[in-house]
Amino acid sequence: MDKQQQLKIQAAKAALKYIVDDAYIGIGTGSTVNCFIDLLDDHKHRIKAAVSSSEASTKKLEQLGIEVVSLNDVDQLPVYIDGADEANENLELIKGGGGALTREKIIAAVADKFVCIADESKYVKTLGDFALPIEVLPMARSHVARELVKLGGDPVYRHGFVTDNGNVILDLYSMEITHPKTLETQINQITGVVTNGLFAHRSADHLILATDTGIQEF
Ligand code: 5RP
Repeated sequence: MDKQQQLKIQAAKAALKYIVDDAYIGIGTGSTVNCFIDLLDDHKHRIKAAVSSSEASTKKLEQLGIEVVSLNDVDQLPVYIDGADEANENLELIKGGGGALTREKIIAAVADKFVCIADESKYVKTLGDFALPIEVLPMARSHVARELVKLGGDPVYRHGFVTDNGNVILDLYSMEITHPKTLETQINQITGVVTNGLFAHRSADHLILATDTGIQEF
């Protein structure tokens, strides 16, 4: 197992303490969350059920015998556990490398507490080295791309990828994101955008970062 995978498991382990007994839990998407789902197997008796941000996570949860319910049927969601592609010191994130950003953002909006788990490679001073994923209605792809160029970025169509919602992804390169909240709002104002992968207005509440020297919590 490589070092990064070991760190992902460490971050996932450190998030177990956030499980709330007899409550629903929100589950994100990605390789770090997959480590958390594996660990959740030993704790599944403690939770009511899960809500999931992707078909992939739902499948993995159900394979372990963990019930997945619709977010619409959940009155209270104390905790949401998810990874990130980048995180800064304000716990603002870029997410959506796996293309699940819209459902992730919806669950994060509902959750009382958003716990982000990541290995140290995700921690950055300024967001934007990782291309910002933007979910777009298919017929608006070229329009949205032109508008993104006006914002100073370099959008690239994620060929062959369709989101769980039936939409496409534009990955926005060449942006140094010094004002994440402003850019998040600007991009969401473009007609045809479903949402973008900046989690700045709804940032994480806790960041668990696994490093070579141990767990750091912010
Ligand atoms: C998926 C996401 C993931 O949280 C993000 O891509 C991080 O994934 P990984 O844990 O595999 O690095 O936002 O849409």
